[in-house]
Amino acid sequence: MFSAAKKLRQNGVLGLNERNADFIMRFNPRRFYPRVDDKVLTKEIALAAGMAVPDLYGVIVHQAEVRNFSAMIENQSSFVIKPAQGSGGDGILVVTGRSERRRDRFRLSSGMNISEGEIHHHISNIVGGQYSLSGNRDKALIEYCVKFDPTFAEVSYQGVPDVRVVVYKGYPAMAMVRLPTRASDGKANLHQGAVGAGVDLASGRTLTGVLENALVEDHPDTGALIAGLEIPQWDFILESSARGYEVTGLGYLGVDMVIDNDRGPLILEMNARPGLNIQIANCTGLASRIARIESIYDKNATPAERAAVARQEFPAANGGQTPFSF
Ligand SMILES: Nc1ncnc2c1ncn2[C@@H]1O[C@H](COP(=O)(O)OP(=O)(O)O)[C@@H](O)[C@H]1O
Ligand SMILES: [Mg+2]
Repeated sequence: MFSAAKKLRQNGVLGLNERNADFIMRFNPRRFYPRVDDKVLTKEIALAAGMAVPDLYGVIVHQAEVRNFSAMIENQSSFVIKPAQGSGGDGILVVTGRSERRRDRFRLSSGMNISEGEIHHHISNIVGGQYSLSGNRDKALIEYCVKFDPTFAEVSYQGVPDVRVVVYKGYPAMAMVRLPTRASDGKANLHQGAVGAGVDLASGRTLTGVLENALVEDHPDTGALIAGLEIPQWDFILESSARGYEVTGLGYLGVDMVIDNDRGPLILEMNARPGLNIQIANCTGLASRIARIESIYDKNATPAERAAVARQEFPAANGGQTPFSF
């Protein structure tokens, strides 16, 4: 146990305390948290900065507005309902279609059916704060349901994968793709049971996957190989992530993007407290990458330049062929 911890540290893996105390506290001014802790606000600032996001169909702020739900989605057959202040995929409903026979019944990504009344109840719970980080009242967002890009069709189970990029002082430091599984119910959150796969920043290709801290080569539901997939528009994804720094003012940031089949990469959310498991998915520690960024940091570099630097500086060791090396 002791030597494992030591080895992790030698590999530059950040300890939980170090991360919290140092990076979040030092580089993320608290006054900027609402920009990322409220998904309605995040959408607004991303749009204002010219970044693409899933369209917003409506926001429900008060219990009395729950009845407006059906008008908001009148012309949509698919949509996503989520708490503005949620995290970890909790409280998110991915609605993929309407029942063929009854317009007031919907199909969830899991294949289960849900009635409009049950959806009202769920929205009411969101507004009441059941899923909010703060425990206070919350808002429910209803937005466009992203259609997955065929690149990931074989390694996603009924849901949209997302690409997480950890950005330090505006420089992409590490990335992973999270792949939904049967267990994660249309969501790509690791603690819902999604698979994380590291990404070679140089090429945008996936590395081996991680499922609950164990290495996996194949997707648990589809059996398809996880490594070696080329993320489309990788340059654009890295550059957009880098811009997340200017957009939020946060020096240590997780930017989450999804790739829509029609619209291309969209910003899904940004996070002031990015988790550490991205290091496991990449078999690499963040500390050494952060140290490297410190030494090459240029405050005048543009997001595109910072993305290019990250591609050059952070290829996967051994072209991504490295086995787990802790
Ligand atoms: N608009 C959407 N279309 C399709 N899937 C979505 C959409 N929004 C969220 N999801 C799925 O749910 C997951 C969690 O959503 P996210 O907005 O990141 O909330 P959280 O803060 O709870 O992680 C995403 O990774 C994605 O897999
Ligand atoms: Mg998320």
